[in-house]
Amino acid sequence: MLFIMIDTAVSHSLTLKAVNLSPLRIPEIQRNPLAFLQHNAAKHGDFIHYPLGLWEVFQLNHPDLIEHVLVTNQRNYSKNTVQYNTLAKITGRGLLTSDGRFWRRQRRMIQPAFHRQRVLGWGQTMLNATQTMLDGWETAVQTNTPLDIDEEMMAVTLTIVGEALLGLDLQADANKLTHAVLAMLDYVVYRSQRPVPLPLAVPTPRNRRFREGLQLLDDLINQAIQDHEQGRGNPNTILSQMLTAVDHDNQKMSRSELRDEVITLLVAGHETAASGLTWLFYLLSQNPAVEDELLAEIDGVLNGRPPTTDDLPNLPTVQRVIAEALRLYPPAWVITRRAIEADTIFGAQIPANALIIMSPYTTQRHPAFWQKPDQFYPDHFLPEAEKARPRYAYFPFGGGARLCIGDQFAKVEMGLMGTAVLQKYRLQLLPNHPVIADPLVTIRPKHGLMMTIQRR
Ligand code: HEM
Repeated sequence: MLFIMIDTAVSHSLTLKAVNLSPLRIPEIQRNPLAFLQHNAAKHGDFIHYPLGLWEVFQLNHPDLIEHVLVTNQRNYSKNTVQYNTLAKITGRGLLTSDGRFWRRQRRMIQPAFHRQRVLGWGQTMLNATQTMLDGWETAVQTNTPLDIDEEMMAVTLTIVGEALLGLDLQADANKLTHAVLAMLDYVVYRSQRPVPLPLAVPTPRNRRFREGLQLLDDLINQAIQDHEQGRGNPNTILSQMLTAVDHDNQKMSRSELRDEVITLLVAGHETAASGLTWLFYLLSQNPAVEDELLAEIDGVLNGRPPTTDDLPNLPTVQRVIAEALRLYPPAWVITRRAIEADTIFGAQIPANALIIMSPYTTQRHPAFWQKPDQFYPDHFLPEAEKARPRYAYFPFGGGARLCIGDQFAKVEMGLMGTAVLQKYRLQLLPNHPVIADPLVTIRPKHGLMMTIQRR
């Protein structure tokens, strides 16, 4: 099959290519999986088969292949992979990791809480949390002291998702909670890199931090559930909607199902949005011409008043820079599936149990579909450019039935926060600060993102 290139004419073949991979390369792959996936795509093309340890791996880099797995034949592809089984150690059987009938039941019960109108209802919470963060920056602004923007984003997105989910004022506890959630995410990364980990009962500092973090979250969630059940909770929270939702047998979720879903939403909705915002501020600091264009739009639309959710449709450049940041640094940089039964994809045999690897990071920099694959170029998202691309050239939120349930939440959050910050401040990278993309649970800057903040 041939595809029209946007600026240079290169054809792409969907023929499967088998690659021999020495097991000796596994440590190198673990050290830098993004470089490995990118290298494979550049060297071997769109559709690659290689052994990796015990697995038969199929790496899909072409949008049509990705569409097959995420949409066309999605029922044949489960989340029974190391990536999701490791996450399930934290989240239990939540939406992100569950499958089949149970997943469908849960998704149907939770989906209404993420209806766009409901998400827009969280706009003021998002703006209040942003304003509190900005107030906290005052001393750093006055003394020109750099702040770690990655840490700031982690704290504020946790506050926001915590409030929307549980209705708790997490402001005071945000740091403690961030550490708890980070300890757990650190544990997930550790587990995904060590096939045979030390048992949790062994009191290593990491294991201890993980257990304490999980306990803290458990306590918090149980308290919130109790408050709701006793009529003391905020009736608008996502939790309160989950507490009243019933399935088609008129059954409510059990306490442990609720707990798993709440932890899932905290984990899935926190670091992803933070990572997206962190890279957005980094990319803008490196591209002053784009930033100027963006500021002209924000100033023109808002004329100095604070943004609201009603402004978002009138800020197309804001939407394009966010989309472009999520293209270059998709927080969920890899998506895996397991083939349940054998399948045929574009003529190639996929055996049952094969491990499917799809990387938004790799495909979203695919030179056949992007005019400037490695540059920050928001015009990639002008309507005519979008129309010219296959649908799955861009999938930062996944796709098909398993599309991110929080995609609207994240877009509104990033739009409002980005606008509110940039309306008042210019963020500049500290000179010589090394910025290295580290593919953990999401892509994070390895040494944080130290930036100085000037009032505009
Ligand atoms: C920029 C921010 C975000 C990004 C890039 C992102 C990305 C993704 C991706 C790629 C998936 C699909 C994974 C797969 O198919 O294997 C996903 C699923 C999910 N996301 Fe997000 N996400 C973001 C924000 C959020 C937020 C804010 C929430 C909730 C408050 C959330 C909750 C979930 C849940 C529960 C799932 C599983 C959905 C299901 O399978 O039914 N995400 N996300």
